[in-house]
Amino acid sequence: MRVLGIETSCDETGVAIYETGRGLLGHRLHSQIDLHAAYGGVVPELASRDHIRRLPLLLRETLEVTGLTMGDIDAVAYTAGPGLAGALLVGASVAESLGVALDVPVLPVHHLEGHLLSPLLSATPPSFPFVALLVSGGHTQLMRVAGVGDYTLLGETVDDAAGEAFDKTAKLIGLGYPGGPALAKLAQQGKPGRFKLPRPMLHSKDFDFSFSGLKTAVLTAASAPDFVPEDRADLAAEFQAAVVEVLVAKSMAALKHTGLKQLVVAGGVGANLALRAQLDAAAAKRKARVFYPELELCTDNGAMIAFAGALRFAAGETVEPAAGRFAVRPR
Ligand code: KG4
Ligand code: ZN
Repeated sequence: MRVLGIETSCDETGVAIYETGRGLLGHRLHSQIDLHAAYGGVVPELASRDHIRRLPLLLRETLEVTGLTMGDIDAVAYTAGPGLAGALLVGASVAESLGVALDVPVLPVHHLEGHLLSPLLSATPPSFPFVALLVSGGHTQLMRVAGVGDYTLLGETVDDAAGEAFDKTAKLIGLGYPGGPALAKLAQQGKPGRFKLPRPMLHSKDFDFSFSGLKTAVLTAASAPDFVPEDRADLAAEFQAAVVEVLVAKSMAALKHTGLKQLVVAGGVGANLALRAQLDAAAAKRKARVFYPELELCTDNGAMIAFAGALRFAAGETVEPAAGRFAVRPR
């Protein structure tokens, strides 16, 4: 089965075609970073309009790189949420319209399920069951994944998501959008420990997280009268160290709790190199392995949506006829 995947939940337009038994045939991605940079964050209406402009082009390019035509598509999967309502509606409208035009089934996919399953697309994939650490701009969760659609939530953030904390903290210390990667880059030039930030909920004995206090602690440190711009790298390094320490400790606790030896890391923050290095080291100590999506599939993309859709179809999921169903769920 050849599944066309469409992702438009936030500021990335993604299109991909995945074929069951063959793998990812091709994908195309457009990032709207330049469009939103001047505003310091994603402007929802601009995002929606840009998805409208880009989708037809990316669709055509994806067909070109795969050597396929529209008639070769057996099904369409699209991100139905969570995300920006207007942006989601663009992907949903295009997907549902294609479903009607091509007379193929159309499947709404949960964005996080896409992220969750994306490491299975790599050359050395994990096998079920595994523990998944989902760290994106909107979510921070630890899950036990027993199979496609079989997810048990172990714990999650009680306030800000890890990526959100990176983004907000970056903004606080004057770094541009997107803040996460910029903060991570600055942290590489600094030393943790000179500033002392809390490790929220490190000893809470559950799998929950809290990151909003960290942001406030950064603000307090950066507002001190003797704080100079040269201090920012050390503060960024300490912030990153605090987030990473908590994520690593809770992930290891989740492995211990479930008795599993495989940890899958998904979502944009999974691109963070300090997080990767420390997860790898901690897992090695427990004779466990960490699996990451290919770097280009860490952030939002259409490939993970096509793939999640293909797995769901393969698991026997059926869908209602497409006409008139726009199942977006922003939250
Ligand atoms: O999964 P994603 O592309 O979008 C969703 O939120 O669904 O994740 C984006 C998040 C942003 O908050 C971004 O700042 C963060 O991932 N991020 C990073 C890094 N790269 C992206 N955070 C820390 N270090 C990075 N290298
Ligand atoms: Zn995402």
